[in-house]
Amino acid sequence: MADVFEPRDIIVTGGCGFIGSNFVRWVAANHPGVHVTVLDRLTYAGNPENIAGLPGDRVELVVGDVCDADLLDRLVPGHDAIVHFAAESHNDNSIAGPEPFVRTNVVGTYRLLEACRKYDVRFHHVSTDEVYGDLALGEPRRFEPDDPYRPSSPYSSTKASSDLLVRAWHRTYGVRATISNCSNNYGPYQHVEKFIPRQVTNVLCGARPKLYGTGENVRDWIHTEDHSRAVWDILTCGRVGETYLVGADGERSNKDVLRAILELMGRDPDDFDWVRDRPGHDRRYAIDPTKLERELGWRPLHTDFREGLARTIAWYEGHEGWWRPAKEATEAKYAKQGQ
Ligand code: NAD
Ligand code: TYD
Repeated sequence: MADVFEPRDIIVTGGCGFIGSNFVRWVAANHPGVHVTVLDRLTYAGNPENIAGLPGDRVELVVGDVCDADLLDRLVPGHDAIVHFAAESHNDNSIAGPEPFVRTNVVGTYRLLEACRKYDVRFHHVSTDEVYGDLALGEPRRFEPDDPYRPSSPYSSTKASSDLLVRAWHRTYGVRATISNCSNNYGPYQHVEKFIPRQVTNVLCGARPKLYGTGENVRDWIHTEDHSRAVWDILTCGRVGETYLVGADGERSNKDVLRAILELMGRDPDDFDWVRDRPGHDRRYAIDPTKLERELGWRPLHTDFREGLARTIAWYEGHEGWWRPAKEATEAKYAKQGQ
């Protein structure tokens, strides 16, 4: 294990989004000596309510863009680390309109790396397993850190580009950087455009859930709290320059997940619509987390997917005021795409 890095003052980009806000809440609960500056542009996916109620002397929100070099010059000096979650994160949006993905995911990461180089600040880059492309259904192989990059969508190709920038800035300029590539997250505060919240809120609205294609595509689900702990462990104990894969042995087909949601919500498990498939739809993702487990002793705590799903459903049932404002516009967008 590398020397332990003990940050006191961190910037969390995208800290008002789904995974970023869960991370900020986790740090506030588990590391009270750490001050967090959230840098978030508050796009359609960012909501300050996601970090509401946290102690104001420990969590501060700066509304701004990761592409804004002048802002970074003012903000970054004096911080120990940047944990970079900010991104355009939804595959379907990237297919409909890729430009913001190139801007935020590629140019934004570049600007942050330049700031880290200038002010000698450590960088942790939060990325996705989708940079590795997809795996065949039913084969035993899982993604490993040194697998070739084969991204399929505009989203995953911009994330792959950003990972490569991080690797180059470490090797060429010595920026102290780590990367994590995680599988699909679930839990509270996830935008209603994503698979699980979309289906849960459809049922709550009296609409039928929508399954793409054959429903056989497999995703490897991890609870967002387990992801938060992995990011913290890598930031503080990971080896600089290394890539760690984060996954919790959670492979399930989309159809199985949807049927579980319907059962848990007391509905007929076949009560959903088949809709147009996503172009270029990745078949299967699966993570081999051995490196993270062996080097850093990380283990997932949320190992019962059905129970985690039930608690996530309960969260959406109890937070209609949170998701309702985004629901109509999201469904209108899907309707235009035939999904
Ligand atoms: P999200 O879309 O819920 O949140 C993204 C956040 O970034 C929002 O708060 C948004 O306002 C902010 N943002 C967007 N553009 C910005 C900009 N230019 N400047 C500043 N802030 C900006 O995303 P998420 O699902 O929480 O994903 C967070 C990160 O984790 C992303 O980097 C994503 O690639 C990665 N990731 C996500 C998953 C997943 O299952 N959702 C899995 C693995 C990795
Ligand atoms: P998503 O949550 O968009 O995550 P990702 O594309 O990063 O895996 O989708 C998860 C899976 O669910 C993916 O295979 C696409 C599928 N899907 C549906 O079947 N129906 C839907 O309404 C959505 C949004 C996704």
